[in-house]
Amino acid sequence: MPTIHYILHDGSTRSIDAKAGASVMETAIHHNVRGIDAECGGSCSCATCHVYVADGDLDRLPPPDEMENELLDGVASERRPGSRLSCQIAITPALDGLTVRIPESQV
Ligand code: FES
Repeated sequence: MPTIHYILHDGSTRSIDAKAGASVMETAIHHNVRGIDAECGGSCSCATCHVYVADGDLDRLPPPDEMENELLDGVASERRPGSRLSCQIAITPALDGLTVRIPESQV
């Protein structure tokens, strides 16, 4: 099982054994990770699942598509190079160890 690390607002880390095929957002919701609201349920229209992917992990992900890219322009927190919508990150075994940080505004 791939493990996903979520860095929370208080600096602590939740490391969760995720199911391949689930999204980073779905895994967070299922395990009550605070700060990922996912108001639209993963349909790429709310941006409340914004996360910052760790620098070293960015090249492990495909780039955001046009819809995700547009939504990222409107996130509540500052958009940074590692900004992604966690509902659009499908977990695969190759993503074992992926680290994402929850923006402070989403706590
Ligand atoms: S859950 Fe709404 S955009 Fe990701």
